[in-house]
Amino acid sequence: MILIDGKKEAELLRQELKKEVSDLKEKYNRVPGLTVILIGDLAPSKIYVRNKEKFANEVGLKSDIIRYSESIEEKVVLDKIDELNKNATVSGILVQLPLPKHIDKKKIIEAINPLKDVDGFHPMNVGNLSSGYESSIPCTPMGCYLLIKKIEPNLSGKKAVVVGRSNLNGKPMTQLLLKENCTVTITHSKTKDLKAECLKADIIVAAVGIPELVKGDWVKKDTIVIDVGINKTDKGIVGDVAFDEVSKNAKALTPVPGGVGPMTIACLLKNTIDCFKRSQI
Ligand code: GUN
Repeated sequence: MILIDGKKEAELLRQELKKEVSDLKEKYNRVPGLTVILIGDLAPSKIYVRNKEKFANEVGLKSDIIRYSESIEEKVVLDKIDELNKNATVSGILVQLPLPKHIDKKKIIEAINPLKDVDGFHPMNVGNLSSGYESSIPCTPMGCYLLIKKIEPNLSGKKAVVVGRSNLNGKPMTQLLLKENCTVTITHSKTKDLKAECLKADIIVAAVGIPELVKGDWVKKDTIVIDVGINKTDKGIVGDVAFDEVSKNAKALTPVPGGVGPMTIACLLKNTIDCFKRSQI
């Protein structure tokens, strides 16, 4: 079984990006800039945002964090997004999710200029991705996609099962695999006989948020299994895949932590650079 080392792959991607930022600096005399808006003080969000800043600095991007208290008015955030949209030194804008209840997520996402939408959540980017046009691609599925391609460069005709249908992961993951000519089945927590669906798969991407849902006998030999889950349990953080059991069957498997997570942030940096490049044309 191949244990997919997301930390190593993310490090390799960041090295490439660092070189690219340095070339862009030479060419344009400025570097791409990422601005993150963090509202409230949820611990996981604070950790993500700190890591985003650390790695953005490591590859040489300009990085800013704007922090608001949990009770901030929606209008203040919308006005700030408007200001960032107009600021030429800002290449990418990310509003960390989840948001407090009184703030309308849809309004916030739609306020971001689609050309600066490093999350790929704006309906224009979602539409472009599903139509097969150039777009920002959500970071987590892009990270999963790059890890799968490392193991299996030719995905044409492969059977892929995506477990989970979220806008953040499941749906964009499906689009990326379709683009590679996979036959994709989207499943979720209400799917009848999930085991039977998974047993047909050459590739499984588990992004459903249920601890250790995918069991060893759900996975046939030679399947690539990507675990997007991060679930807090009594025994610590576990993924959506029962790691010990599945590792006995799968051809390749991502660990949690150290699998998809590090790739997500590296892909965010890549999206920021890509937004900068598109804005220079
Ligand atoms: N919260 C958890 N993951 C993400 C993500 O990919 N983007 C944003 N904006 N917030 C998140």
